[in-house]
Amino acid sequence: MSRKATASAPSNIAFIKYWGATDLDHALPANASLSMTLEVCRTTTTVQVHDDDGPDTIRIAPGDGTLTTAPDSFNERFARHLARLRERLGVHGRVEAVTHNSFPSDAGIASSASGFAALAYAISAAFDRLDTPEEMSVRARLSGSGSAARSTFGGYVMWPSDPGAPDSPATQHASPDIDLRDVIALVQGGPKPVSSLEGHRRAATSPHFATRQEHLPERTRRLSDALTGGDFDTFTELLEEETIDLHLVAMSSTPPILYWEPGTLAVIRSVRRLREQDGVPCAFTMDAGANVHVICPPSSEDAVAAAISALPSVHDVIRDRVGSGPRNESEHLF
Ligand code: DP6
Repeated sequence: MSRKATASAPSNIAFIKYWGATDLDHALPANASLSMTLEVCRTTTTVQVHDDDGPDTIRIAPGDGTLTTAPDSFNERFARHLARLRERLGVHGRVEAVTHNSFPSDAGIASSASGFAALAYAISAAFDRLDTPEEMSVRARLSGSGSAARSTFGGYVMWPSDPGAPDSPATQHASPDIDLRDVIALVQGGPKPVSSLEGHRRAATSPHFATRQEHLPERTRRLSDALTGGDFDTFTELLEEETIDLHLVAMSSTPPILYWEPGTLAVIRSVRRLREQDGVPCAFTMDAGANVHVICPPSSEDAVAAAISALPSVHDVIRDRVGSGPRNESEHLF
């Protein structure tokens, strides 16, 4: 008997960033992070589990009806995640998987958060073992991707739930009723120059890392209050401060990591102009890459999208919003 299931899970954008780990292999973070779950940017994965014990396979569905093989680095992380999922669930079987991203795969948008959360859901669904979002967070984190641990909840998510216990799961911090939009400016195609994994490894070599850790609890508390209290001005100040702090640590690591491209700065300037000259509330943030996420209330979305689309260094814009989390899908990819 073979078991088949399909699930989709969203990507997320961190407001307070995970950067640096005490145990990278198990994604035990140096600090708590806080993110917004997205809705449009998501990964759909179909798994079929066969009774025999052959090698697992994963193929990518670009969306044009074809299937392609995944790069080696992806295959290795996929195989390791599957092995750990089987162990946690106490199940066996060879897995055949096909995965599809709703966003262009060369867009430079982090797909590991949505990808590993979707894999954890699809495997759990195939064995009728779907569980609470907390348990699913633990299963997603078995991939080694910390951001995946946050993609099992909708709304706004804190991971770990207990900052004193880095192995605790994520938890929903605020519901998707707080309606924020994420207008994503794509300024760079292709993979980022240095992976997040390598960035976490280098983080503590920065002379600014320790200062960042000292400031984070207070910044997280204030940003959270501003978010839940609807104080978008304070939220903006703290979100941008946090973004620059993350990149300051990256740039001052040994060896230094420079994620910014000319288009990154063009979008940052445009966001400031919109806010300061045109009175449009909006705030920039980035993860470990050059693309810029512009977070704004619904009333700003059209103005933000129009302004950044007009920049010559922005080659595409994705309009996303706070989302409701993973779900089962009835249509299989193969
Ligand atoms: C800068 O180790 O979760 O985006 O699994 O490669 O996506 P990937 O990265 P992960 O680190 C994420 C780093 C970050 C900040 C964040 O999302 O918290």
